[in-house]
Amino acid sequence: MGKRDSGLICVVLAAGLGTRMKSTRTKVLHEIYGRPMLRYVLDAVSGLAPAKTVVVTGGNGPEIEASLGATDNTVFAVQKKQNGTADALLAASGHLKGFKGTVLVLNGDSPLITPETLKKFLRNHWKNSNALSFVSFEASEPGAYGRVVRDAKGKPARIVEKLDVTAAEKRISEVNSGVYAFEPPALAFLSKIKKNKKKGEYYLTDLVELTASSGLSMNAYRLGDENEFHGINTRAELARAGELIRQRVVENWLSKGVSFVDTSSVHIEPSVTIGQDTVIYPNTYLEGSTKIGKGCMVYPNARIVDSTLKDGAVVKDSSLVEESEIGTDASVGPFAHLRPGSKIGKSAKIGNFVEVKASNIGAGTKAMHLTYIGDAEVGSKVNIGAGTITCNYDGAKKHKTKIGDGAFIGSDTQLVAPVEVGKESYIGAGTTVTKFVPPGHLATSRTRQKNIEVTPRKKK
Ligand code: UD1
Ligand code: CA
Repeated sequence: MGKRDSGLICVVLAAGLGTRMKSTRTKVLHEIYGRPMLRYVLDAVSGLAPAKTVVVTGGNGPEIEASLGATDNTVFAVQKKQNGTADALLAASGHLKGFKGTVLVLNGDSPLITPETLKKFLRNHWKNSNALSFVSFEASEPGAYGRVVRDAKGKPARIVEKLDVTAAEKRISEVNSGVYAFEPPALAFLSKIKKNKKKGEYYLTDLVELTASSGLSMNAYRLGDENEFHGINTRAELARAGELIRQRVVENWLSKGVSFVDTSSVHIEPSVTIGQDTVIYPNTYLEGSTKIGKGCMVYPNARIVDSTLKDGAVVKDSSLVEESEIGTDASVGPFAHLRPGSKIGKSAKIGNFVEVKASNIGAGTKAMHLTYIGDAEVGSKVNIGAGTITCNYDGAKKHKTKIGDGAFIGSDTQLVAPVEVGKESYIGAGTTVTKFVPPGHLATSRTRQKNIEVTPRKKK
């Protein structure tokens, strides 16, 4: 019994009402770093390459299915009434019919579980040919977790839930993680579970006592560290899970050669990657598919979303970068905003209070102060003076601005798009450019300065 060759199906229990969250949103869809907690569980499980994963949902089914989207081997089962965790597993039985292999069951509200621990657990389960195994851990605060009661020989005999513990059992620090592996003979006891009198629910944990007393081989494995099994029932536990995931991500990057000036105040989503020798300053948010290269500097209060920083790129204080790319050794900020579709070339500089949207900025180009560049193709080594504005919107449509290599745009220039400025041309300060500037020309549209003598105003 308990062979890896017969295959593996994972069942994630996610139908619970989550009343302790005090929320209109279903518990397992509450987000940690922008992703539903259930997503973390499914990602951990996918590391085991199961034949399929069954997610048990309830009234929250449509909400969960809409949020997760269909995947190749994730299927859904509906538990009509939330009658407890044993009843939830029964609801999945349609997907387990005729299956002779191992069923791995997890709670959808424990997102810190890792594939490494699950693999270790299954190795133990299979090596010992158990009919039932579960993961237990020493809890520093056993709280609401089920207590693992062991018999005189030290074998697990049953799991007692919080409402049913005696004073002595309450002090047991070994608790149930909610991760189980079942073989068909143990699953056969599911229908024998009686309703818990106090809670009026069918407890999956009762399968432990039923299997133990049947004489089938069974064991609990203390694995991983307790943080991995942190279950979320309340908002406080949700916040704690976010902090634990945050710390885990920071520790991973520290071990890979990334520096943090203050590890307690950086927020890096698990999907982000960071190259070696990059330095991250406090209060930084790195989100989504962001990829930070090697030797980059990210100064305080930056938020970088779905963006790429090539090696040596610098994002200075209080800048927002969205769906953009910053080239090798280029710098952005302080107080800059790269909106989606911006590509900043190698060694280019985007400075104070500059906004760039859907534009390509060539290598070595500088726009250092108070500028808006939207829908523009800017060549290399262009100098864009302070206060330059691409007037890209005529009230109905967006239009393009093109600026050739080596052009010099004087301060306070308006480029009324669609418009093109040729290579190596000059725009005088304060010019409103409305038509093509040929390469190598100077364009100016200012009225000449007149100096008119005035008699000084009388002081009252
Ligand atoms: C459960 C275990 C407890 C363990 C803890 C670990 C039981 C009876 N107790 O307690 O021993 O220490 O997890 O975190 O199993 N669910 C359903 N349908 C239901 C009820 C729950 O699908 O009818 C789902 C929930 O969505 C949740 C999971 O099962 O993801 C666990 O349910 P929950 O009520 O949170 O159990 P705990 O009290 O945390
Ligand atoms: Ca729980």
